[in-house]
Formats: sequence, structure tokens, C-alpha cells
Amino acid sequence: MANDHNIFQELISHCKEYGYIFQSSEIYDGLAAVYDYGQLGAQLKKNLRDEWWKSMTQLHENIVGIDAAIFMHPTVWKASGHVDNFSDPMIDNKDSNKRYRVDHLIEAFAEDLEAAGKATLAKEVLETMDVLLAKDDYAGLKALIEKNNMKCSISKTCNWTDVRQFNLMFKTEFGAVASDNPDDNVVYLRPETAQGIFVNFLNVQKTGRMKIPFGIAQTGKAFRNEIVARQFIFRMREFEQMEMQFFVRPGTQMEWYNYWRDARKAWHESIGIPGNKLRFHDHVKLAHYADAALDIEFEFPFGWKELEGIHSRTDFDLKQHANFSRKKIQYFDNDLNPEGKPYGNYTPFVVETSVGLDRLFLTVMSLAYANESWTKEDGAPDSRVVLKIPAKIAPTKLAILPLLKKDGLPEIARELMNECKGSFMCFYEEKDAIGKRYRRMDAIGTPFCVTIDHQTKEDNTVTIRYRDDMRQERIALSEVKKLVLEKINT
Ligand code: GAP
Repeated sequence: MANDHNIFQELISHCKEYGYIFQSSEIYDGLAAVYDYGQLGAQLKKNLRDEWWKSMTQLHENIVGIDAAIFMHPTVWKASGHVDNFSDPMIDNKDSNKRYRVDHLIEAFAEDLEAAGKATLAKEVLETMDVLLAKDDYAGLKALIEKNNMKCSISKTCNWTDVRQFNLMFKTEFGAVASDNPDDNVVYLRPETAQGIFVNFLNVQKTGRMKIPFGIAQTGKAFRNEIVARQFIFRMREFEQMEMQFFVRPGTQMEWYNYWRDARKAWHESIGIPGNKLRFHDHVKLAHYADAALDIEFEFPFGWKELEGIHSRTDFDLKQHANFSRKKIQYFDNDLNPEGKPYGNYTPFVVETSVGLDRLFLTVMSLAYANESWTKEDGAPDSRVVLKIPAKIAPTKLAILPLLKKDGLPEIARELMNECKGSFMCFYEEKDAIGKRYRRMDAIGTPFCVTIDHQTKEDNTVTIRYRDDMRQERIALSEVKKLVLEKINT
């Protein structure tokens, strides 16, 4: 655990040093739990988003994508239940005034127990917490915290308030017209992208002539005033979701729930996440809209945590929007039922898949980061830091490196750059010794490097170097683009 902790800290520093992720507003000492993606991070994030978008909208004929606004009518959040229910049980330490999400406080305590070799006790504490959370038993949760003498990380005391609910939505004001009633101008920053899909259900169904079962996909920013934002980009106050609502005939939702559970796990594996690093975790306490829910968890360096949620949301959201908007939000199904009659009008049920793009990014980076050392043939030690990001999603695919800045080598390299850059991201560099340039490309995760040297001028061949095993081979210059395209498309 301690070792994993060190590796995680190294990864965070590496992300900053190589232009993947920066603390937001760093020159002003940062803004808690808000991060900016740098030049390489933004590209990796885009590649992940594109893969998801393609798998949803291009590879499924019955799923279409939309891009709804972040601001929505405030009644949306009343109808969805977020104004009344989107809250977490919190507890404050009276000495430090620090506020904790109760489940996070208990989970952190259990992690410490586990690290101290008390795994059975840790399991017991977590199981008790699950039962108490499922019953909304706040007095029981406080008693669990006190009985185990869980301490505030700042004051180191166990002097706690009662457990209370705290709404996680950010509020802001809309428009410039002042009103006597401050609530008149209130709008919320969306805490999930899903509602933009629900309120557009009829628009998309009718204009796209969609037939059930069908899905609507969307990617975009979501905002939550998380109380304890921890673990780098794992839990942020501004983050990005990739959500898909799949509309199905009532009564078929469990079939689709199981389908999407397996399909989503398979998708994660298709982008290089090993199956044994993923597992399902069924929810004990269901959200107000769900009749079944599970998390796809990944084994992060700080333990098994939620990467994606699969939720059977029933007809809750569409019915709520129909009630609050007084519009008929239904679907006419003219397929025939077992009695030979059309299914007719109904409110579709919904199975949702919802993955955090930032968490997916952290998953990929946790798997990719390696600090390797070995002994060279001459007995000298050697080492490197490498990001083994799968070629398909790596931000830069190919580095083009003329061995020297002279003798016509840069000209040949530039020609190759021009040939390849329209098809995939390339990086050109002629400074420093070749070994140093390779190491830099390892550190930013570039899967292929091509070196142009004097032999290239004689026989039109180049050295290609593979990042993961550092193998080098000679191939025809004319084969470079084809080879890289093959590797990134598998
Ligand atoms: N529409 C359903 C929904 O929002 P959720 O389980 O609250 O469900 C879905 O969120 C996903 O969004 C999570 O599995 C996680 O990947 C991501 N997510 C949620 N809160 C997050 C946060 N504060 N920071 C980063 N990602 C977050």
C-alpha cells in the first residue's frame, strides 16, 4: 500500500512535469479539486472521448449523440429530484471545522486499518457502514465513527457534530434583472449530463424517427460541490461525464441492464484495461430513481473504486418531467405484443451507462506509468520512466527524429512528417542525443520513434523503435505510415 501510495504521488508529479495535468489557477496557489489538462492531457482525453463516442454512436445503429447546454431550466432539477435528494450525509469536526462526507471518512479509516494489517476489522466497518447508509441511519453512522474513535485529519480529535445532509449542486444567478425574490434568478450548474438527454427525449425520438430500444449519448462537463475532494482527478468539483440513456420497453429493463453491464466492461477491456483489474459492485442503497444499480470498479493505486455506473433508472425521469412540464412524454410502440396487439403508448424505461472521463484518464495513466530499471550488457545500471499508453489512445503516435541537424537528414524527416501528420499526431525533434530523445518520448508515452540517419540516404530505410520493449528494427521509409496506422487501428 505504501509503495502504491508512492507510485501514485510519482504519477501526479509526472503528469505535471510532462504537460498532462496542471492544478487549476496554479499561479494563485490553485483551486481545490479543480484541474487543467495540458497539451498532452487534452489530447489523451480527446482520444478517450472519441473512442467512447465512436463505440456508442458509430458502432450502434440505434444510438445517437447530442450536446445539450450546461444551464437548464431550474425546474429540471426539481423534477429530477436533485434539489431535494442530491445530498450526501456529512459530519463536521467541531475543533477544526473541517467537513467530511461520512462514507469517505469511514472508508479512509478502513483503508488505514487495512494498511495496518487489520483487514477483517476494515471489512466489518465497511459492511456496517453499508447497512447504516442503506437505512439512512445517521445516528448509527455517528455512533460507528465514535465507537471506532475515527479522528479528523487536522485536529486529530473525535469531537463530531451530528450527521447532516448537504446538497452538492452549485447555484448561480441567471440574467441581469434583479428580483425581490433571490430564488427567481437561480440556476444550477448541472450535476449530471443525463437530464439534458431526458428533456430532449421527444425531440430526438421524433426528429430522428427512433424506434425503441434506442439510446441517446452525450459527453460534457458536470459540477458537484464535493465536500472532500481527494485523490487527484478521481473526485473533482468540475469533471466530465460520458453518459448514454438507453430507452427500452417496460419490463425489459433487466435484460438491457445485464447487456450494458457486460458491454461496458468489454469496452474498457478493448481500450487496454485488463479484465482482472475491473469488477462489478452492486449498490446496496439505490438512488431515488433506480431499481437496480452497480459500479464497474477499477483497482486504482489507492484501492478498488468506482469508474463507471450502470443504472436501471425505471421511468422515473421521463414521468417526472412529464408531470412538472405538463407535457405528454410518451412513446407509441406499434410492434405487436404476444397477444398480437400493438404495445401502444407508454413511458419508456431507461438503462443508463455513466462513466467519468477524468476517472477513465486516471485509470489509463495508473496502468501506463512505470519506473523501470535494469542492467545493461556492459554491467552498468540503466533506468527510465515510461508511459505505456496503448497506441490506439496515446496522445502522440509517432516521433520523427533526424539523427543530426545536417546532411539533408532534417529534410527527409520533414517529408515524412508531412506524409504522416494528416493521419495521426506526430512530433518532430532534432535537438539532443538520440538516447535522450527516446527517453523523453518514453516519458510522454509516444509508442513509436523513427530515426532518420545517413543510411536512410543510401537505402531509404529508417530505424523504428518500439516504446514498450525498446526493440529497434530497420524498415523501409515508405512503410512507416502504414505500420503506424496498422498498430493504432488494432
Ligand atoms: N447520471 C448518473 C450519475 O451521474 P454517478 O455515479 O453520480 O451517476 C457517474 O456518476 C460517473 O461520473 C461516476 O462513475 C464517476 O466516474 C464520475 N464522477 C462522479 N462524480 C465525480 C467527481 N466528483 N469527480 C470525477 N468524476 C466523477
